Amino acid sequence: MELTSSSAMWLAMAILAITAAVTKIAKGERRRRSTFESSDLTCKRPPPPVVNCIALLGLLPTLFRGDVPAMMNELYVKFGSVFTISVAGLLKVTFLVGPEVSAHFFQGLESEVSHGNLFEFTVPMFGQEVGHGVDDATRIEHGRFFVEALKPNKLRIHVDPMVKEIEDYFDKWGQHGTVDLKHEMEQLLLSISGRCLLGKEVMETKFAEVCSLFHDIENGLNLMSVFFPYTPIIPSNRRRDEAREKLHAIFSDIVRSRKQQQGDQVNKDVLQSLIDSRYRFDGRATTEAEVAGLIIGLLFAATHTSTHASVWTGARLLSHGKFLAAAVDEQDRIVGKHNGRITDHYSSLTEMHTLHSCIKETLRLHPPAPVLVRTAHKQFTVRTREGHEHVVPAGHTLASPIWINNHVPHIYKDAHLYDPDRFGPGREEDKVGGKFSYTSFGGGRNSCVGEGYAYMQIKAIWSHLLRNFELRSLSPLPKTDWSKLVPEPHGKVMVSYKRKQLLPTT
Ligand code: HEM
Repeated sequence: MELTSSSAMWLAMAILAITAAVTKIAKGERRRRSTFESSDLTCKRPPPPVVNCIALLGLLPTLFRGDVPAMMNELYVKFGSVFTISVAGLLKVTFLVGPEVSAHFFQGLESEVSHGNLFEFTVPMFGQEVGHGVDDATRIEHGRFFVEALKPNKLRIHVDPMVKEIEDYFDKWGQHGTVDLKHEMEQLLLSISGRCLLGKEVMETKFAEVCSLFHDIENGLNLMSVFFPYTPIIPSNRRRDEAREKLHAIFSDIVRSRKQQQGDQVNKDVLQSLIDSRYRFDGRATTEAEVAGLIIGLLFAATHTSTHASVWTGARLLSHGKFLAAAVDEQDRIVGKHNGRITDHYSSLTEMHTLHSCIKETLRLHPPAPVLVRTAHKQFTVRTREGHEHVVPAGHTLASPIWINNHVPHIYKDAHLYDPDRFGPGREEDKVGGKFSYTSFGGGRNSCVGEGYAYMQIKAIWSHLLRNFELRSLSPLPKTDWSKLVPEPHGKVMVSYKRKQLLPTT
């Protein structure tokens, strides 16, 4: 998933916007847009201030240093919480920073603000039966299937196999040693996804093949595929298409065979939930191709985000002794409370508030999705904290820069500091500006359906590590590698471990 620019965050957003602009022109929508713009003229409220090409050129040195957040922050400080980047008048991206101006972005009606065709490039990744290949009503139903599969009573079922996978994985570590946390977390998170999302058929005989095909799909996501998602001239597009077809065939076989064995065996993984899902509008079951597309899409949404979040959590904890000690104390306390033997993993993980805050603070500083994008289908008005009102015209691409949202100074005190206590009683900075103060998992209609699952697996991993190992960081706190689509810690993250006297937790 490596992009060629020094800044994938910047590029991903720009590319999506360019795609939108080009598509719009191709569809001959210029006339419609000019109608909207002339109607804006009759409106008393001004459009957002525009960052023109000259101002953008001034930011190039910061961009070339690879410091994307600094560049975005410069724009925020200079232009405020609402501004439009315009490149030659063709490409217009309006940034909305902070909770005061984010409500419409997150919860406007689908007919007014949506992903539009910005994610067209995901259709050949997951198949035209799901995601942005289907109409809104079907996509909303698919979202409901995900919510059903990951809701708390299902999470309770997923936690035990999750914990088992984690125990098995770390049982293979020696008495002491040195590891690259990035490599370890990548392997572990794939195994957890294999077991809890994909199911036993994949884990028993097809895990390596599925992982390799999945990598071909991921590698099919690059600059060229975003512009030209369907052309077979691009080799990575061809490999992606072949991989998707093979994955669809594998999952279709599994779905067919599970349907035939119905009643004989009880599968409790997410795949089974998707097989059991029924459409509200006609009561029909999901097809094999739909289940295949949904599970590949879910694997994509779940794996990298949680892998990097787990690595960053370790990197942050191991470089902040105070919070590391607090997280270890919490483990001791919870294990002690259960007489040294945790049997109900779900309830115990739910009790780990300190660890939860440490992960939440990690995700504030290192959001795996640093910019979210939408298309405005209708003009709308935003009101800034200072009371200025702006009309954002229809046709603009909208961007919510999560990284900047998570650093807004009137919400987060000393925002650059790692301070999990900021979420604790008396401070609750994530609620200071209302429900869009903390947006690492998005918000509103399209917020992350896997948030609870993500916290469970990251907590399960770190609670196991903190209880069973003494860990020491051998690398300085990594910088962010913005050259990846999901920004990750730069380079290896080396950690030494020494097994503690094993606590009898199970
Ligand atoms: C630390 C881990 C994770 C982070 C930070 C994260 C973040 C996000 C964000 C920001 C969005 C919203 C995108 C938008 O508004 O355009 C999203 C959507 C989504 N996430 Fe996650 N995610 C994580 C883990 C997971 C996991 C573990 C799963 C599944 C098990 C998952 C499944 C999804 C799905 C299906 C969507 C699409 C929701 C929709 O469009 O309605 N995510 N995620």
